[in-house]
Amino acid sequence: MTQAPETAAGDAHTRAQAMQQTWDTSFQDQVTAAAYNTAPVEALVRTVSHHLRGRIEPKDYGRLSFMEVGCGAAPNLVWLAERGIAVSGVDISPTALDLARQAFARRGLQDRLRRLEHGSATALPFPDNSFDGVLESCVFQHLARADRAAAFAEVVRVLKPGGVFVGHMLNQRHSTFVAQRAHQLADDPGTVRLKSDKVANKFDLETIGLAHFFAREEYADLLRGCATVDPCELTYELPRVESERRGYARYMQAMWIVYAVK
Ligand SMILES: C[S@@+](CC[C@H](N)C(=O)[O-])C[C@H]1O[C@@H](n2cnc3c(N)ncnc32)[C@H](O)[C@@H]1O
Repeated sequence: MTQAPETAAGDAHTRAQAMQQTWDTSFQDQVTAAAYNTAPVEALVRTVSHHLRGRIEPKDYGRLSFMEVGCGAAPNLVWLAERGIAVSGVDISPTALDLARQAFARRGLQDRLRRLEHGSATALPFPDNSFDGVLESCVFQHLARADRAAAFAEVVRVLKPGGVFVGHMLNQRHSTFVAQRAHQLADDPGTVRLKSDKVANKFDLETIGLAHFFAREEYADLLRGCATVDPCELTYELPRVESERRGYARYMQAMWIVYAVK
């Protein structure tokens, strides 16, 4: 299996090709195992609700245009579309995009769907200042350092002034990082190569490769160009029986919900 190079160096095009193969294989595995995400990420959509409350009446949501980077099977976009918001999505996996199209068709929400594009987070196929909101969930954390910086810059570029970014990504308090911090990449602190976790996850994490666990201090620089950058901690603890199944006494699923306004 081709994997994206670990260092920031290397050709961006080669990395994008490797990423497509990695993610499409992963998505096909997840479809086979019935393990891909079909539910909106609760804290992410709740943060969007907080942002919209007091800014725009629900009856006017049809004026808004949101986009998700790495939309997968599009549960978050469906949630927005159900509220009347016009949505677009980008994903590097054709398999994920097929599932996303089916999700909109099943619910009769195609009229809210603007564009579903095959592409990379590092070069979004949209003009500057396009969206009132951009979402991201568990995508940027798997990018190599240079690609991560490019992906955040692309978010800022495509947001309208006053537009909101809500991202959901790994936090350094996560039990996996605490256990593996000795193996951080020398040229990219916070990043580790995932080890197989097939028992817990039903599909193989090793195919995904890198995982970057963010520190709060990283965001101000990654999201420069935003007037507000507010990373919020989101941690839940797994029941002991599940923690032990993963080889931990206590397993903390520590994430960030990053709230930013351009
Ligand atoms: C963990 S899944 C999350 C899917 C979706 N955001 C959700 O919450 O259900 C990560 C998604 O990001 C996509 N992805 C990974 N790298 C990408 C990249 N460089 N550009 C665009 N999409 C990417 C994958 O194909 C996959 O659909």
